[in-house]
Amino acid sequence: MSKTPVPKGFTPVHSARFGKKGSQKLAGYEADGGYASWKKVAKGWKSGDFTPAKIIDMVKASGLRGRGGAGFPTGLKWTFVPPKEKRGGKPVYLLCNADESEPGTFKDRLIMEEDPHQLLEGMLIASAALDVKHAYIYIRGEMVRCAEVLNEAVAEAYAAGYLGKDILGSGLDIDLTVHRGAGAYICGEETALIESLEGKRGHPRIKPPFPAVSGVWDCPTVVNNVETLAAVKFILDNGPEWFKGMGRNEKNTGPKLYCVSGHVEKPGVYEAPMGIKFMDLLALCGGMKGGKKLKAVIPGGASAAILTAAEVADLPMDFDGVAAAKSMLGSAAIMVMDETTDIPKAVTNISKFFAHESCGQCTPCREGTPWLNKMLKRLIKGEGKRDDLDLLLQISNQMGNGMTICVFSDAAIAPVISGITKFRDEFEAYLSKAKAPDFALAAPAEVTPKVADRVAEGIHG
Ligand SMILES: Cc1cc2nc3c(=O)[nH]c(=O)nc-3n(C[C@H](O)[C@H](O)[C@H](O)COP(=O)(O)O)c2cc1C
Ligand code: SF4
Repeated sequence: MSKTPVPKGFTPVHSARFGKKGSQKLAGYEADGGYASWKKVAKGWKSGDFTPAKIIDMVKASGLRGRGGAGFPTGLKWTFVPPKEKRGGKPVYLLCNADESEPGTFKDRLIMEEDPHQLLEGMLIASAALDVKHAYIYIRGEMVRCAEVLNEAVAEAYAAGYLGKDILGSGLDIDLTVHRGAGAYICGEETALIESLEGKRGHPRIKPPFPAVSGVWDCPTVVNNVETLAAVKFILDNGPEWFKGMGRNEKNTGPKLYCVSGHVEKPGVYEAPMGIKFMDLLALCGGMKGGKKLKAVIPGGASAAILTAAEVADLPMDFDGVAAAKSMLGSAAIMVMDETTDIPKAVTNISKFFAHESCGQCTPCREGTPWLNKMLKRLIKGEGKRDDLDLLLQISNQMGNGMTICVFSDAAIAPVISGITKFRDEFEAYLSKAKAPDFALAAPAEVTPKVADRVAEGIHG
């Protein structure tokens, strides 16, 4: 039913019901086999056919990695929650990260708006596995329609007995609340999300402790992305081997929603097996807009290093494939730029976003992000100074290397460093009428390998 083309031989998974009339409604979901896995889990709970360990083992065996940015193995993350006897009576919470604010990312919105019950079913299964009695969906405030659809779906699930007390006679009690944030990019960072859910300003926390040990209200907390949790439902439906069989290799598995924007004929969300080659994805989108030449690609949202056309020519679009090219898959927000794109202007635009969204707790980030933006704006106005490119790299160096509470600062410098490094001639062209520097830089500014490595490792923690 999915309206977008998929690769030959691939059957859509997350997007199978997108666009279908009444896809949001429980009746339609059940008619398409929805909640079958949840019913199986609930039925097998008392008999011991289904246990937390069995579900966690299935998720581990599937190779599922988090779809929120870092690509952390989901089953492994779940094992970090301390066992009941070590929790001091504290409850465990599951938080679904539906903040979806990374520029260029719009896949979670479609799951929530088009097929919300796939997410709810995944969350119910995850809650049973993690001994969660209360799960939350933290949704970005601006996504009003999504929140409405989700709230209707939650009400339907309660009415059908899939949520609430003694679910389907299993003895499982699970509540689910949709919580609307106020709309800040940083609230997508898991510890800022936790602070925000607690009613405080969305400021990231120093890690460790990690949320699995001490998260919301100081209780063990698992934070997972919308697409990650929805995938759990499909793993239970079809088995881990089915999921694993779909990827490029055993570390990059499953179906994947790719958000493609920019200079392509048909921008949109495309579902494909994890690890589809960039050029094949581009072909699904109808190719480059107006037949223009490909110049550059941002493969994983504004936080990802820019790749050149040559770098993406044979690139598998999965966590390890993009990391090997020293960028990251992130939230799979792929921004395509054609030959007419002015890279310094694109980088300046991105730097404005980061300057606006810094939470301000750490000096390098609070001061560095507007400084980069100010210098870049000056540069593209033709008012740059001769040393500006080296200074931009030097400032970037001082903002990275783990000197801040969260990796937002590393994200902010990735487009600047990669832009200047790979398209230096374009930046220099803006400097052709550059003024003499106000001061000489103390030492030749270079991007240290440490910064480059950290960006390449993938910055979303
Ligand atoms: C600045 C920043 C913004 C983030 N925004 C999001 C977001 O909007 N959605 C999301 O799922 N993860 C986001 N993340 C990643 C989360 O911190 C976290 O790793 C993720 O929700 C874990 O889920 P996963 O393991 O299922 O990927 C962000 C991270 C950073 C540093
Ligand atoms: S790095 Fe930036 S966004 Fe992250 S905590 Fe520090 S100031 Fe806030």
